[in-house]
Amino acid sequence: MPRAHITGTGSCIPKRILSNKDLEKIVDTNDEWIIRRSGIKERRISHNGRKESATDMATNASVKAMNMAGLEPGDLDLIVTGTVTPDRQFPSTACMVQNRIGAGNAAAYDLSAGCTGFLFGLKTVDDAIRAGTCRNALVIGVEKLSSILNWQDRSTCVLMGDGAGAVVVSAADDDGGVLSTHVMSDGSFWELLHTEWGNVYVPETLQGMDLKPFYMVMEGNKVFKIAVEHMADIAGRALAHNNLTSEDISLVVPHQANIRIIQALAKSLGLSMDKVFTNIHKYGNTSSATIPIALDEAYKEGRISNADNILLVSFGAGLTWASSIVKWSLTGSD
Ligand code: ACO
Repeated sequence: MPRAHITGTGSCIPKRILSNKDLEKIVDTNDEWIIRRSGIKERRISHNGRKESATDMATNASVKAMNMAGLEPGDLDLIVTGTVTPDRQFPSTACMVQNRIGAGNAAAYDLSAGCTGFLFGLKTVDDAIRAGTCRNALVIGVEKLSSILNWQDRSTCVLMGDGAGAVVVSAADDDGGVLSTHVMSDGSFWELLHTEWGNVYVPETLQGMDLKPFYMVMEGNKVFKIAVEHMADIAGRALAHNNLTSEDISLVVPHQANIRIIQALAKSLGLSMDKVFTNIHKYGNTSSATIPIALDEAYKEGRISNADNILLVSFGAGLTWASSIVKWSLTGSD
């Protein structure tokens, strides 16, 4: 049975930096609170005028991943994008990227799984490769969360940022690659993290409308507790499924929502933080983009070597949560 191997990574981070100090001028918050409660020092905010729309960022990250993999656009047969902030409700961001890069042989679609979108996408592609229906795919995570934040709500706007990451996944008969993917959802908790944006709320007129229905709403405290519990649980399932222990894991690349969630995950796995990759201090929570951005940075910083077991774990709106173990098959010269 063919295995899914990550053969290229890429990311795109908007240039504009919004620091905690900048946020102090917008909402009643302070640098010390944000760092202590979340670990975030600054985040990036995209700018359409600088070609940093979701499609722009996703395309940029994808081209870098394709170049690393040495693939031509025509080699792709699948593009899956995890996003909750597409430029348009339709067509999908994946179709926009397909058009931009000229991947005429690829089926392309988005999926919505909150911050877990990238890992849900990786599972879709892994399943397709194992089934023999796909040879080369792009899995993208992209968000422009700044466009759905209520910039008067200090409990959400200080936490999020914009960005994109992408990986190329190719079929090969070699051992390794994506060893497993586990995904879970529980829609009964949907209200803890949501936006009314969509077709539920149809105003008679936009004039004078309170724009709050379009904003992200989160009961952070409750989400925090469920995230800690479910991320530890699904990470444990990934280890058990592969007959591995935490000691077999070279690096954990978790969703970057809150440094305290990440620390709790490391503790539950019995791992020190030097075995966990974090960049939340620079980018905040970029939802489905956090893991592919972190993977790209970790690899380029030399934190991942060939044959390492990498544990990916995420949690997000839905609620959704997921894990994957990837036996890395890219070498330093790639
Ligand atoms: N600055 C200063 N004070 C603040 C801020 C702020 N930005 N935000 C909230 N506070 C205040 C609150 O009003 C509260 O004040 P009170 O005690 O007087 O009522 C106090 O700080 C504590 O608030 P809590 O919400 O209890 O703080 P907590 O320690 O839980 O941290 C946080 C909040 C950072 C949101 C945390 O709960 C969290 O990270 N939750 C999980 C987020 C997450 O993982 N989301 C999932 C992914 S997101 C996605 O899918 C798009």
